[in-house]
Amino acid sequence: MTTASFPHLLKHIAVPAIAAAALCSSAQAKEHPIPQLVKRDGRYALFVDDAPYFILGAQVNNSSGWPALLPQVWPAMEFMHANTVEIPVYWEQLEPKPGQFDYSVVDALLAGARSHQLRLVLLWFGTWKNGNPHYLPEWMKLDTEHYPRVTDERGRPTDSPSPFATATLEEDTRAFAAFMAHLKMADPQHTVIMVQVENEPGTGGNMRDHSPQAEKLFASPVPSEILKAMHVQPSDSPPNWRDAFGRDAEVCFHNWAVAKYIGHVAAAGKAAYPLPIYVNAAPGTDRGAALRDTNKPNGLARYEEGGPSGNNLPIWKTAAPALDMICPDNYARDATGYIKDLDTYHRDDNALYIPETGGSPRFFFFALGHQAIGFSPFGMDFTKTRDIPDAARPKDELLTPWAKTGTKEFIAPFAATYRLINPMSREIARLNFEGKLQATAEQQGQLAQDLPFGKWSAVVSYGVWARYARPVGNPEPMGSALVAQLNDHQFLVAGFYSRVDFRPADPEKHRQFLRVEEGVYENGAFKFLRLLNGDQTDGGLDFSSDPLVLRVSVAIY
Ligand code: DGJ
Repeated sequence: MTTASFPHLLKHIAVPAIAAAALCSSAQAKEHPIPQLVKRDGRYALFVDDAPYFILGAQVNNSSGWPALLPQVWPAMEFMHANTVEIPVYWEQLEPKPGQFDYSVVDALLAGARSHQLRLVLLWFGTWKNGNPHYLPEWMKLDTEHYPRVTDERGRPTDSPSPFATATLEEDTRAFAAFMAHLKMADPQHTVIMVQVENEPGTGGNMRDHSPQAEKLFASPVPSEILKAMHVQPSDSPPNWRDAFGRDAEVCFHNWAVAKYIGHVAAAGKAAYPLPIYVNAAPGTDRGAALRDTNKPNGLARYEEGGPSGNNLPIWKTAAPALDMICPDNYARDATGYIKDLDTYHRDDNALYIPETGGSPRFFFFALGHQAIGFSPFGMDFTKTRDIPDAARPKDELLTPWAKTGTKEFIAPFAATYRLINPMSREIARLNFEGKLQATAEQQGQLAQDLPFGKWSAVVSYGVWARYARPVGNPEPMGSALVAQLNDHQFLVAGFYSRVDFRPADPEKHRQFLRVEEGVYENGAFKFLRLLNGDQTDGGLDFSSDPLVLRVSVAIY
C-alpha cells in the first residue's frame, strides 16, 4: 500500500475503527517505543525497545537490495552473526514516475529482516551516491536542465548534482518524506532502527559549484551562524567566503551548500517519522574520513568535496541540525589512521557510528573503546559481484576491500568477533553507555596497554607465549580485548589473541584471582560453564582465536 493512497482509504474506515486503531497504535508505541539516540553523562546510546542497543552491523553490496537478491543476503547475516543489516533504498526504484511510489521493495526488506530476526538501517540512495546523481529516477536523469549538475570552473556540467538545484531538492525532500511516512505506517515494530540520508555526498574532483547562482552566493556574505561555528573573528563588514576562509573558502562553501540541502531533506523525513537520521562521510586521504589534507586545497581528486570531513563538522552541525549524527566511513588501513577518524567523529555533539568499514576485524575493538553505538563492515552478502583472479588482486587487499566482497572468505574474519559479541550485545551496549567498559586492540610495536578502572588496572598484552614470559607482540597486530567493570572487584573480559591481567592501583599489593568463570551469554544473562584455574590462569587470562567470555573476581593480598 502506498502512502499516497493511504489518506484516500481513511475515508472508508468507520470512526470507531479509527479510535480503535488509535488506541492500538498508542499501545504499540508503548510496547515498541521509537528508536532514539540518548545522551547521558556525556555518553550516547541508541535505544531500541527502550534499552541500549549495539549495532553489530553489516552493509550489503550496492546492488543487493533487490528482492531477488535477498536470499543471498540473509544467510550471510547468519554466517556473520550480525544483528542489523544496512541495505540501500534506491530512489530510482521507489519513484519510477513523478509522484508514484512503489514500496514493494521496501516492504520485502521489512518482511525479510523480520523473518530473520534482524534489524535494518536503510540507506537512502537519493540525490548523492558517492558524490554522483546515479540513483536519481530516470525522469530526472534525463532532464539535467531542470535538475542540474555541479558546473566546473570552465562552465561544464559534472557527474555530481548541484546542491543549489531547487527542483532536485524539492523532489528529494518529497520522496524522502514519503518513504519515511511509509516506514511509519508499515513498521510499527521498528524493524528499521535508523536511516541514512544520501550516501557519501559531495563532489569528486571539483571543489564546488560554479553555476551563476553559486558564484553569486560565493561572493556574498557568509551566514553569521557559520562564521560563529567556525570561530571566524568578527569584522566590521560581513566577510564573503574567500575573505572569511582564505584558501579553504571553496571547501567550506561547498560543505555549507551540501549540508543545507541534506539538512532540509532530513528535516522533512524526521517530520514524517522521527527515527534517528545520519549522514556518512566519504573516506579522504589515507581512506579515513577525517583525514582530508588541508595542506592541499586543490587537486583532491579522490575526495568528495563538500562531504562532512572532520575539519568541517561545525558547518554541518550548524547548517543541518536535523541530522542526528555525522558518521565516518572508515577504511583506514592502519591503526593510527583508524583511531584518528574515531577521535574526530566522537564528539560531545556527535555520537559515534561507523556505517562503513573494512580492514582488520580488530578495529571493532577500537570503535567499541571510543563508545561507538555500532559498526558495519561493507560488502557483506553472498552475491559475489566480481571474480578477480588471484594473480590480478592487488597485494594489499585492504586497499580494495570490495575486490572480494560477496564471499564467505571476505566475511569470515568478522564472524568470530560478531559471534563473541552478539549474545551479549545488549549488555555491552549498556555497560558502554554507563561508562563501565573499555576496549582496545593491538598496534604495531605496542606490546601492552593499561585500561584504568579506579582501584584496578586491566593490563592487556600481546604475544605472551609462555606462562610467565614477557610480551613480544603477535606476528602481526591482531590482538584485542574488552574489559567491563561489573562491580568493584568483578570484571567481564573477552578478546582475541591477547592476555589480560589485573593490577591493583596500590603498587605494594598483588592481585589474586578468586573466581575465573568461563561462560556464555544466553537470553542476555551470563551462564556459568566452568571455573578456569591452574595452567589456564596462573600467568593471566589468555584469549586466542575462539570466542571466550570470562567473568573474573579479583582480590588483593
Ligand atoms: C563507499 C560507498 O559509500 C559504498 O556505497 C561503496 O561504493 C563503497 N565505497 C565501495 O564499493
